[in-house]
Amino acid sequence: MKLVSIVGARPQFIKAAALSRELRQRHKEILVHTGQHYDYEMSGIFFDGLEIPPPDVNLGVGSGSHGNQTAAMLRGIEDVLLLERPDWLVIYGDTNSTLAGALAASKVSVPVAHVEAGLRSFNRHMPEEINRVVADHLSNLLLCPSDTAVRNLATEGIGRNVHLVGDVMLDILNWARRRVAEHPPEIVERLGVKPKSYVLATVHRGENTDDPARLSGILKAFAALDEPVIFPVHPRARRVITEAGWRLSPDVQMIDPVGYLDMVALAGSARVVLTDSGGLQKEAYWLGVPCVTLRDETEWVETVDAGWNVLVGSDTEKIVQTVHSFEPAESRPALYGDGCVAARCADLLD
Ligand code: UD1
Ligand code: UDP
Repeated sequence: MKLVSIVGARPQFIKAAALSRELRQRHKEILVHTGQHYDYEMSGIFFDGLEIPPPDVNLGVGSGSHGNQTAAMLRGIEDVLLLERPDWLVIYGDTNSTLAGALAASKVSVPVAHVEAGLRSFNRHMPEEINRVVADHLSNLLLCPSDTAVRNLATEGIGRNVHLVGDVMLDILNWARRRVAEHPPEIVERLGVKPKSYVLATVHRGENTDDPARLSGILKAFAALDEPVIFPVHPRARRVITEAGWRLSPDVQMIDPVGYLDMVALAGSARVVLTDSGGLQKEAYWLGVPCVTLRDETEWVETVDAGWNVLVGSDTEKIVQTVHSFEPAESRPALYGDGCVAARCADLLD
């Protein structure tokens, strides 16, 4: 069997690291990088650090408005599909690369498999929500990480070829944890922080970075925590902070985005994770680190229900107070599968 997999953004490289390995043992996989993320710290570092085969095709699309970026990807992916005529197109998550893949394939009658299908924030102002809804409705195989995702699809009338498989991110996290345990990265020491005595923070959602009131509410909270904050800065947030000329307190260490193993080490040793990232909410849960989420809703509702994640939005006082007082639940039930999800996805594709 021949498959084309589409990746383009940081979390997709991490997800593909789990599934590509499995697919390549069984089939011919053509890995297409749309070029949505292109800085070394946002792209190459994951191919190097996660032993992902280099992309067979890089469309080099780069940044742009949603329409421009998605259109360029659509054109490029269609060319690859017409040339390769694969049996499946595999897409991950909810980025513009996901949407372009789903659209291109469905127009030329290539079946689409969506990894991480069925997630919903029910916030249609979020570009990712549009991408998810469209991608799911165009998909022929829907690989869901949770019961909630399966139910969300049923509510939209999608019931055929829907499978509860779990989350491929747990597969790769388990691999990374073993690596980190065998060869602990020096990053925590290098940054001069002590395990369990700092906050790890990330911010990149458009709703936060593109709204000065929200972003300044969040950054003021970082400065008011009275605790070291390690802040690997997404280029989208870096640009806004630089342009606005904001200066952060010395307790906040703004660093470049880091590779996955460094991130797993930083997250695992943090006292609290403070983030608007989807992936990091789950990783914090799996690593047993309380998470304070800088959003008003989440797709990963089970982490909130389990008592390990709390939604705080962007209000400075609410963030500070929650980071200081949040006590997670005593138990932490297994969520999002058993860490053998890639093999299950590959079986279903077979
Ligand atoms: C994208 C996804 C989001 C995902 C995130 C993961 C969409 C709509 N959004 O958001 O779902 O959570 O990736 O990180 O697809 N930039 C650089 N260098 C890079 C990449 C981006 O400087 O290598 C800057 C550019 O100024 C660009 C901005 O970041 O305009 C936003 O990048 P883009 O890929 O459009 O969206 P993300 O915010 O990264
Ligand atoms: N991540 C990383 N380095 C960083 C920031 C994040 O490796 O500097 C990882 C993080 O651990 C998670 C994934 O990137 O696995 C999440 O990506 P992101 O937050 O960009 O996107 P989202 O998950 O919100 O779509």
